[in-house]
Amino acid sequence: MESKGLTESRKLDHIKAVLERRVESDEETLLDDVRIIHNSLPEVNLDEVSLEKDFCGKTLKAPLMITGMTGGHPDTAEINRNLAVLAHEYGIALGVGSQRAGIEDPRLAETFSIARRAAPDVFLVANIGAPQLAGGYTLREIKKAIEMIDADAIAIHLNPAQEAYQIEGEPYYAGIISRLAEIIDSIDIPVIIKETGNGLSGELVRELYGLGFKCFDVSGLGGTNWVKVEVVRAAMRGQKPLPAGRLADYWGNPTAIAVIEARNAAPHSYIIGSGGIRDGFDAARAIALGADIAGVALPVLRSLLLGGLEKAREYLESVLYQLKTILYLTGGRRVTDLWRAPLVIHGRLLEEISVRGINTHEYLRRTRLEPLRVQRWRNTQT
Ligand SMILES: Cc1cc2nc3c(=O)[nH]c(=O)nc-3n(C[C@H](O)[C@H](O)[C@H](O)COP(=O)(O)O)c2cc1C
Repeated sequence: MESKGLTESRKLDHIKAVLERRVESDEETLLDDVRIIHNSLPEVNLDEVSLEKDFCGKTLKAPLMITGMTGGHPDTAEINRNLAVLAHEYGIALGVGSQRAGIEDPRLAETFSIARRAAPDVFLVANIGAPQLAGGYTLREIKKAIEMIDADAIAIHLNPAQEAYQIEGEPYYAGIISRLAEIIDSIDIPVIIKETGNGLSGELVRELYGLGFKCFDVSGLGGTNWVKVEVVRAAMRGQKPLPAGRLADYWGNPTAIAVIEARNAAPHSYIIGSGGIRDGFDAARAIALGADIAGVALPVLRSLLLGGLEKAREYLESVLYQLKTILYLTGGRRVTDLWRAPLVIHGRLLEEISVRGINTHEYLRRTRLEPLRVQRWRNTQT
């Protein structure tokens, strides 16, 4: 097991890298290949549009999650506190970053639990890494993570690409699927299977859905890219980066494809459309494609750390206002109306999903409406 100090200082390296360098993929999310049809006579007043959305058994005021980023170094406590304040103000969900440091060193638990204290009512998501699960974490550590923040759900993050390019990485994933199958029945809050920027695939979602997993955060390619972050971080520390080449920009499943594949593979599940969501337009398109809510990480952190709570509020308000106006401009009153909105899918997105065996018309007409019929968060319950 690596030293605790290293896990701790890596947290700050990552924040420094994502604030100071370009760490987003050159590859696109492919959300630009989606056009939601404009309605010039929407028959709804803007102030009647509601952004409320059910999510894993609770109701959010808006269909958005600030996905897990930080905690684990004393300097990160303030960040988690402020993110919790923001999530509370807007009634959106919040994830904390990997809780490994807090599980292994109880003095660091406070850097995570501060989020719960700052926002007792927020939908708060715990976070542990799949490599830790493959490497020996048991239900005991999972329960510790959940209790640490009195979590509403727990995300298990998948980051095989990052582990391969982190100099001290732990690219050990063998046996992970049977570990997941072993634990799913014993966790009594929703378990979110979460990528970290390289995008879940239909094959994986289908397999995990078959095991009883009901919540997926696709975290697709097109936003923050952890291969890139690790290359940048190595250079910032004066180390020779592992030779990522073009993988640092192009390896993975773009967000728009990941959302469609996940919904196609797991019709009655909760799906978070994330990875490169930068404004309300992106968020609306991810939801229109079949996600329940959108997830955003880097832009919130950047606005908070570079401009304080005011800038972060301005950013989140712009995302929510754009989402609201898009609903209005499609004649919708509630978020799930976006699933019925007429859409055009074109370009590479159309080509790629066809090659992946998904019939666009069938998908848009039927599959993306399936969550309206049944939606339960319970792990393993059918
Ligand atoms: C500074 C930073 C730290 C992150 N740490 C974690 C983490 O500990 N656990 C996790 O599941 N995801 C982590 N992520 C990944 C995000 O939750 C998200 O999946 C990814 O950044 C893609 O979203 P984005 O393009 O909006 O940033 C982190 C992201 C950032 C920017």
